[in-house]
Amino acid sequence: MDYFKLIEARHSCRSYMNTPVKRAQIDKCLEAARLAPSACNCQPWRYVVADNPVLVKKLAPLVRLEGSSTNRFSDEVPVFVAVAEKPVDLRRPGVVMLRENYSELDIGLSVAHFCLAAAEQGLGTCIMGIFQEEPIKALLGIPEDFILRLVLALGHPAGPGREKNRLPLPEVAAYNAFTPEMK
Ligand SMILES: Cc1cc2nc3c(=O)[nH]c(=O)nc-3n(C[C@H](O)[C@H](O)[C@H](O)COP(=O)(O)O)c2cc1C
Repeated sequence: MDYFKLIEARHSCRSYMNTPVKRAQIDKCLEAARLAPSACNCQPWRYVVADNPVLVKKLAPLVRLEGSSTNRFSDEVPVFVAVAEKPVDLRRPGVVMLRENYSELDIGLSVAHFCLAAAEQGLGTCIMGIFQEEPIKALLGIPEDFILRLVLALGHPAGPGREKNRLPLPEVAAYNAFTPEMK
């Protein structure tokens, strides 16, 4: 797909068909995620894909918070992908010149690669920042010292995409100097 069409096509999908996702397709998303850039090439992302229906059923309530309606769609998600951050040793040679730990940014870039690769294959994703970290880590065997940064929903979309709701370009970008519109 043309890159700009792909950017348009990717959206947060909150309605999924009850169809399994082929591992070959998931592997392509993981490969795209693996190839993302990262500060000092640290590659701090670790992806755990849950496609076993029993496991998926256990995860669904863990991407909701008590009393919140966010992520209600999780019951119909066929695949969850946990994205964990491997602790980076900032004293390591090659990493030491970093001003700060960029792992969260790195993971954001990698997740963007993942989601775009999914969209390219006609799959829907939703990045979820709301979840119960400890029970998910325990369920998936993610080590204690890793941080669960995001959970992704993945599956065949049940409906069409939607219009992008974004700030106009002059409010987010300018040439040569910051503008009042960007405040
Ligand atoms: C870090 C992050 C966390 C997010 N968490 C959630 C979430 O928990 N539940 C949800 O439905 N959408 C979540 N979203 C999706 C955003 O709401 C969505 O990307 C934004 O509204 C733009 O819409 P679009 O993705 O359809 O273009 C999250 C997105 C990001 C980048």
